[in-house]
Amino acid sequence: MLGSLTVLLSDTTMTLVQRSRSEYHGGVDYMTAENRLAMSVGEAIFTQRAIRRLKPDPIPESDLRDILKAATRAPSGGNSQPWHFVVVTDERLRAEFAPLYREAWWAKRRDSGFLGPEDIPPEYKAAMGLADRIGESPVIVLLCATTKGTGPMSSTIPAAQNLLLAARALGIGGTITTLHSQVEERVHALFHIPETAQIVYCLPLGYPRGRFGPAQRKQLSEVCSSDLWGNAFS
Ligand SMILES: Cc1cc2nc3c(=O)[nH]c(=O)nc-3n(C[C@H](O)[C@H](O)[C@H](O)COP(=O)(O)O)c2cc1C
Repeated sequence: MLGSLTVLLSDTTMTLVQRSRSEYHGGVDYMTAENRLAMSVGEAIFTQRAIRRLKPDPIPESDLRDILKAATRAPSGGNSQPWHFVVVTDERLRAEFAPLYREAWWAKRRDSGFLGPEDIPPEYKAAMGLADRIGESPVIVLLCATTKGTGPMSSTIPAAQNLLLAARALGIGGTITTLHSQVEERVHALFHIPETAQIVYCLPLGYPRGRFGPAQRKQLSEVCSSDLWGNAFS
């Protein structure tokens, strides 16, 4: 008796949880990604910033789908949508990718003349930390362009921002990162990415250990002109 009551209660609780998450009625999900990402666009934009310290807790599959749906709503040249998202959750793959990411990060730093941790300026320390622990991110998205070249590459970039904003709306953090040609072939091989495609960004995602925004940005007066470049923007 007590056993069946427990089952009954847990079923009811489950239903309530499902309803509150997605208004799930009779097998039909009436709530779209659009509704689930209900945070105001202002709050999402003004609190979204690079989150590099991530909890290892998994991201629910439904949230991941919403984030990717939002990413694919982005504009692209001629609506070509030349993107492909490799969504990496597999622990072994993440572990194999981690040293490649670290190698890429240091290759980029060496290109800029930074040879070791002692050369890294304070503003790069957080990125250096991410290079050491990217494998702990529960999800790593490789945003690829399906063909090579700057055209397809630039058409994938708005999707990255959509993805991060949608993640922000769900309380999930991440950041845009790039790789380095030094590891390109090995990363392609690891994730079976065709030679004809290119990896544009690598976006680790997860629940933040730190806090979201506000981000520090230049004043409008520094980055805007009225009508002609250099005319003060009031
Ligand atoms: C094209 C691009 C490349 C980036 N590459 C890296 C990277 O390799 N590693 C990293 O940790 N962050 C990277 N970032 C994140 C930036 O450092 C971050 O967006 C910027 O410092 C602003 O951070 P905030 O939003 O927290 O203020 C990159 C961002 C962009 C747009």
